[in-house]
Amino acid sequence: MVNNGYDKALAEEAVDSGKADIVAFGRPFIANPDLVTRLKTGAALNAPDTATFYGGGAKGYTDYPALEAADA
Ligand SMILES: Cc1cc2nc3c(=O)[nH]c(=O)nc-3n(C[C@H](O)[C@H](O)[C@H](O)COP(=O)(O)O)c2cc1C
Repeated sequence: MVNNGYDKALAEEAVDSGKADIVAFGRPFIANPDLVTRLKTGAALNAPDTATFYGGGAKGYTDYPALEAADA
């Protein structure tokens, strides 16, 4: 299992090459509640807001837009 700085292309390369069995996503998941759907469909990703990473509150953890909202 690998992690740290992976995007879709790097993750696929890691699995396809046999380097990894699975890839974990951290920051992309924080910013994209529907990350799996976005990766499957090739939709654009929300950019993580580093200012809210360690704030201790809900902002930045529960309010990133899902695809429908992002497209609206
Ligand atoms: C806001 C924030 C909180 C994190 N909290 C944890 C944690 O509690 N435990 C942990 O093992 N890693 C934690 N991480 C590290 C992530 O799990 C991951 O290793 C790191 O973000 C690199 O992967 P990424 O490039 O996909 O984000 C955290 C990262 C961020 C940005």
